[in-house]
Amino acid sequence: MSKLFSTTTVGPLALQNHLVMSPMTRGRAIGNIPNELMAHYYGQRAASVGLVITEGTSPSPNGVGYARIPGIFSPEQVEGWKLVTKAVHAQGAKIFVQLMHLRPHRSPAQSPEGRSRTRPRGGRSRGRNVDGCGADEATAGAASHEHSRSRAHQG
Ligand SMILES: Cc1cc2nc3c(=O)[nH]c(=O)nc-3n(C[C@H](O)[C@H](O)[C@H](O)COP(=O)(O)O)c2cc1C
Repeated sequence: MSKLFSTTTVGPLALQNHLVMSPMTRGRAIGNIPNELMAHYYGQRAASVGLVITEGTSPSPNGVGYARIPGIFSPEQVEGWKLVTKAVHAQGAKIFVQLMHLRPHRSPAQSPEGRSRTRPRGGRSRGRNVDGCGADEATAGAASHEHSRSRAHQG
């Protein structure tokens, strides 16, 4: 028990104890941008652990697979994450971002600006998204539409 609460290191990082918060999607990033509520949430937990691993965070508009998951591909998102890292560091913990790139599988309502709705050839998405829109409805046709649009831009 005493070892769990003793200091340790991970590579060059000094940790205040051996406890690590595992990544957990919370769905609180309105517009996929980390916010004050998230900073408060992570700061509260950072008081007890040595290392926080963030919820799955998309490195690209194409990887946003659920509503309100955070991204880290725009300046606004980077500023939002600074609120979180500041709150975590204030409690003496360290933080890693978990990069999570999900497959194109959502409705237009969950698609941030700039993402392509193309999907792997031959794959069929079934089921319904959280907003009730069928995955097939969301992606069918969009791929060919986006392809022809981008070809038109290139041409
Ligand atoms: C609501 C919820 C969200 C989660 N989100 C993530 C996530 O974003 N990334 C990830 O790697 N694991 C995620 N997990 C898995 C947890 O990190 C953890 O590994 C798992 O909950 C522990 O196993 P257990 O639920 O069987 O106890 C999530 C789990 C839950 C319950």
